Parts: sequence; C-alpha cells; structure tokens
Amino acid sequence: MDSRPIGIFDSGLGGLSAVKELLDIVPNENIVYFGDTGRVPYGTKSKSTILKYARQDEAFLLEKDVKMVIAACGTVSSVAFDTGKDLGVPFLGVVKPACAAAVLATKNKKIGVIGTATTVSSGSYKKAIQSIDKDIEVYAKACSMFVSLVEEGWVDENDEITIKTAERYLKPLKEKGVDTLILGCTHFPLISAIIGKVMGENVTLISSGGACAKQAAKYLKDNNMLNESEQEPKREFFVSDTPDGFLKTAKLFLNTDSNLNAKQIKIENYGKQEN
Ligand code: DGL
Repeated sequence: MDSRPIGIFDSGLGGLSAVKELLDIVPNENIVYFGDTGRVPYGTKSKSTILKYARQDEAFLLEKDVKMVIAACGTVSSVAFDTGKDLGVPFLGVVKPACAAAVLATKNKKIGVIGTATTVSSGSYKKAIQSIDKDIEVYAKACSMFVSLVEEGWVDENDEITIKTAERYLKPLKEKGVDTLILGCTHFPLISAIIGKVMGENVTLISSGGACAKQAAKYLKDNNMLNESEQEPKREFFVSDTPDGFLKTAKLFLNTDSNLNAKQIKIENYGKQEN
C-alpha cells in the first residue's frame, strides 16, 4: 500500500475529467492536481514551449511527493511524453490508453480523433492506433476552440454557440462514417453531450482522460500501490492564475457541490535546472 498522493496535471481544467473518472474507480486516493491556468492553452504552442511547461509541471508535482504522475493532457501526452521518462515514479499519458479503448470499440475500423492543433499535427493518436491495427482508418480534426468554450464554462448541452461550433468542426468526421470518436483532449468530455448529439447515437465516444484513469487505477492495484489508509482522502488543487474561475468550473467537472480550495503557485519557479 502507498498513501502518497497521485499527481495529475493539465494546461487548465481539462485534466479534472480524468480526476473525476479516477476517483469514481479508486475513491480513497489522495490527489494533487495542477492546472496551468495562467498559460492555457498549450495546444496552440510550439513543441519546445510545451516541453518546458511539462517539465515544470512534473517538477512541481514531484515536490509534493507523489507516487505517480499523470499527464492528463492530450497535448503533453502527444509531444512531450518523454519528459516523464526519468521522474522516478510511474508516468502515464492519455494517448495510448485511449487508442487501446478505441481499437476495441470500433466495428467498421474507422476511428475519428479530435484534439488540439498540436495534438492533431503530431499524428500521435494515428500512430498509436495503427501500431495496434494498421488496417484501421484514422481521421483527425483539430478542434482548438472547444478548449476556450470549456474554460469559459459554455458547456450546457443547449448552449447554441457550442452546438454550432461542434457542428462545424465535426461535419467532416461524420461524413467519413467513423463509428468511434476519441476525445483526444481532456477538456472535451465536458461537452460530450453536445459532441455525442452532433455525431449521432451510433458513434462511441472515448474519453482520453477516462481511459487513462482506468489504466492508472489498474496499475496501482496490480502493483499494490493503492491507498489503504482510513484517513479522509485529501484533494489538493493548484493553479498558476487566480483560483476563482477555476473553482467555479471545477465543481462542474467534478460534479460536486462540496467546497473546493485551490492555491495559486508560481510554476515558472519549478524545474528550472532543466530549461
Ligand atoms: N487539455 C489539454 C489537452 O488535452 C489541452 C488544452 C490546451 O491547453 O490546449 O490537450
């Protein structure tokens, strides 16, 4: 057993979709979450900037003595996965677990992927899917504006602007006839009701954060690393901008009314030696 917390980071709120799904499976875990709200979005930035940010985010979590680090960010998992190699604790990203789940789900071997511009241009999901089954056709579409809509909290399933945006982004994937769609950015599950309606009920949606959460829980179980302490589990949230907006939307993400606190930190002070 290991009562140290699990460290999870994202560019902002999106990674909370992974936290939610993780706590649904292993509710006794302690969590330290970092959302880089002062520098979101990552998905429109260059690879070298994302590498620097990822190293700083990981360095911050390691200072919190975490037992595992999860990059709950499709963009970091796509272009900066190697930054997690030598952390001294297990490191998980969202790409491989999501692809494994999508390959199991597809029947017509046509999978769609939506993510940030950087994720899509990296080709990470396509490579991971075709390394499992090279006959699967993969159609990827960058949906960068979804990130802003979610950060803004425009997530209600009747939100006209979000619906119109989704219709426009998703049209080409519908036309290709995909039967499975990977939400390759962890922000997107918050608007999955809209995405699901636009794609139609025959399309299976795969949450990349959810797939990663399942893999993380399995890893902890298989390696006897679950928290078995009887103390009330702690959830700590840290952000790099003021916490107010974060807390409001975090409640939606985590589907909770209970009081949440978040502390603001100076993320540029971490991981300096590696820049
Ligand atoms: N949640 C992040 C992802 O999964 C990214 C959003 C962003 O910062 O662009 O890609």
